[in-house]
Amino acid sequence: MSTSKVCVVTGSSSGIGAATARLFASKGWNVVINYSRTAAPAEAVAQACRALGVQVLLVKCNVANDGDCRRLAAEVEACWGRVDVLVNNAGTTRFVGLKDLDGLSGVDFHNIYDVNVIGAYQMTRALAHLLKRNPGAGIVNISSVASMMGIGSSIAYMASKGALNAMTVGLARSLGPEVRVNAIAPGLVDTPWLREGHGAARYAAMVDNYKAHAALADVVSPEDVATAAWFLGVDASKTTGEVLLLDAGLRITKA
Ligand SMILES: NC(=O)c1ccc[n+]([C@@H]2O[C@H](COP(=O)([O-])OP(=O)(O)OC[C@H]3O[C@@H](n4cnc5c(N)ncnc54)[C@H](OP(=O)(O)O)[C@@H]3O)[C@@H](O)[C@H]2O)c1
Repeated sequence: MSTSKVCVVTGSSSGIGAATARLFASKGWNVVINYSRTAAPAEAVAQACRALGVQVLLVKCNVANDGDCRRLAAEVEACWGRVDVLVNNAGTTRFVGLKDLDGLSGVDFHNIYDVNVIGAYQMTRALAHLLKRNPGAGIVNISSVASMMGIGSSIAYMASKGALNAMTVGLARSLGPEVRVNAIAPGLVDTPWLREGHGAARYAAMVDNYKAHAALADVVSPEDVATAAWFLGVDASKTTGEVLLLDAGLRITKA
């Protein structure tokens, strides 16, 4: 078994996942970089982590596919024989306006749930036996403020993140006392997600609007979420079943 600790970050070729993998690597942890479609950005993140002096396993795996999750787990076990933190970050959505009920189908719900809820469950299940070997191990699920405020890319997305919050509490009870399970609910995070989803002009207006309303007058950075993932995954030894709102004060609003 490896003496260095190991963090698996799903969806780590971009945005929050990439920042989280880089942070764990900067602390000397070996990391698993995961993506489902495009290899080049994942390879760039892997290279950046290797440059920090740690080992990296790069795995193409669609978290919605249980066989893929089990293959990833087998590769990590063969490579290092341990996992200390799992960050369930891979997510998907469809951008459908809140008023457009006909624009969102049952298939959309299934596609979004497959990744955001079932994917996180399948990855957790595949790695549970490795996490349990290391008492104090942690799972961090990346949820969204959308689950609490009725804002975000679509109603199916909000519902999926609400389900992820509920699953966080259930898994915390299921996997204790060995493994802690928590979630982070970020507000608007500056990643390709919203920029590509809404287009550059609309995204810029959203950022301005967010800063106008949030108590901290800012949006969230991928590094802000990574720092919270480190806290919940590693340092928060007596916290489990918690959903941490990380929204720069959007919910409480400016005075
Ligand atoms: N950006 C925001 O404002 C915001 C706010 C709250 C919560 N979040 C949540 O934060 C998480 C990350 O979002 P982000 O903003 O960092 O997005 P991003 O920059 O678009 O990155 C998404 C990552 O997920 C991977 N991915 C997508 N589907 C996957 C699948 N089925 N299996 C494995 N990997 C998959 C993508 O790689 P491939 O394309 O190669 O698969 C990519 O690495 C998501 O769960 C999202 O819901 C984001």
